[in-house]
Amino acid sequence: MSYSKKISTDQWSSRLTFILAATGSAVGLGNIWKFPYMVGENGGAAFVLLYLVCIALVGIPILKSELIIGRRGGQSPGESFAGLARKEDSSPKWAVVGWAGALSCFIVLSFYSVIGGWSIFYFVNAVTHSIGADQEAVTNTFNTLIAKDWQANVIYHTLFIVLVAVVVLGGIRKGIERLVSVVMPAMLLILIGLLVYAATLPGFYDALTYMFNPDFTALAYNNGEFSWGRLGQVTLSALGHSFFTLSVGFSVMVAYASHLPKNVSIPNTALTIGILDTAVALIAGVAIYSIVFSDASLTPNAGPGLVFMTIPQAFLNIPAGQYLEIIFFLLLWLAAWTSALSLLEPPVEIAMSVLKIKRVPATILMTTLIWAVGLLSALSYNELSEVTIADEAILDFLSNFTDKVLLPITGLLVAIFSGWVMGMNSTTKELGGYGPVYIYWRICVRIIAPIAISMIFVAGVNEWLVS
Ligand code: TRP
Repeated sequence: MSYSKKISTDQWSSRLTFILAATGSAVGLGNIWKFPYMVGENGGAAFVLLYLVCIALVGIPILKSELIIGRRGGQSPGESFAGLARKEDSSPKWAVVGWAGALSCFIVLSFYSVIGGWSIFYFVNAVTHSIGADQEAVTNTFNTLIAKDWQANVIYHTLFIVLVAVVVLGGIRKGIERLVSVVMPAMLLILIGLLVYAATLPGFYDALTYMFNPDFTALAYNNGEFSWGRLGQVTLSALGHSFFTLSVGFSVMVAYASHLPKNVSIPNTALTIGILDTAVALIAGVAIYSIVFSDASLTPNAGPGLVFMTIPQAFLNIPAGQYLEIIFFLLLWLAAWTSALSLLEPPVEIAMSVLKIKRVPATILMTTLIWAVGLLSALSYNELSEVTIADEAILDFLSNFTDKVLLPITGLLVAIFSGWVMGMNSTTKELGGYGPVYIYWRICVRIIAPIAISMIFVAGVNEWLVS
């Protein structure tokens, strides 16, 4: 038995644990930290609608593609692509897609860990009651953390990634599955509690209007003037984010699905993950905007500092505020943790199969490398704030580059591979036979996704980097 075959013998114990792990991967900082501030920056409900369209026409179909490729390939991402390509008489060079995905995971985890570190910093400071006693102090805490306190950035980045590595060391059953079985139900409870709390706030109705009553001019107008460039860039942000939030494009789901038992239905699983992930993003958005609209001193377009400043400020004058704050930042950290596991898993599996080493040395090696690269992001707003790429701080550039370049390109390749390279024979088997569900998927990955991604990509990147 080859080494890579051995990787897939560590299987998920049931459909439920797979769904918990895959949803744990999908639900992360992207939902709770990033989605709300993106809605604020890109025009509210119209952006939400655009994002939902991207999820339905591109995100979920490509999620299905990754599950098919992973389960049929059954090996580490690169080998899965190569093996399947060979079976279809195509070039094993398709392995590049899996490799590029794992390399991208490496890059994403390097900055994801820094923001994950902020969530632990806020959790710890909520417990010790030291985020700030008034509005000014709260804002100060965030600005000091970002711009001055480089030691805290490094320490919490290190702590975050070490905790991720500890779980990945245990592998699928003894590591990832164990953590998600406890954490995911807890996260669900916290979220529901947050939504119930939001519904009691005076800003709840305004939040619903802001999130669900679209004003389409917001997508394409810049200071009152129509702009194709803005439309392209906003659409690309929605598209890129639909990949990011579902964890598709980087073969994370290929790696996870290579441990997926044969009898699990891929269409149902993909739909469940997609619905849960979207629900969490919408609930987080409604909760955070209820808070923002209940307090006149807060604004929706606060950017990446949104949750770190609004949440503590909103909870200042509430009797049980401190506890709510602790619970919120615990949620943020847990969500980030279960996502980060999935970003470490593909690089670890690749190290295992390429270097022919065991899981423990592979995890230590990859974690150390990613940690070291992550230092650039940890220092990007303070010690290295002078260093910019395309006029952006290192962390911002890496995050934008992921959403706007890496994810669209790898996502496009996954769509083409599953729609044009893999034959109908193999894909119908994985998708439970020929029927409406199959036809919908196939039209999305063969036609809609490739055309949409290419057009949006050209328009959006042009605006981002050239103009
Ligand atoms: N989906 C996660 C989030 O929303 C981030 C993430 C985890 C991810 N694994 C990924 C993004 C793989 C892209 C690819 O926070």
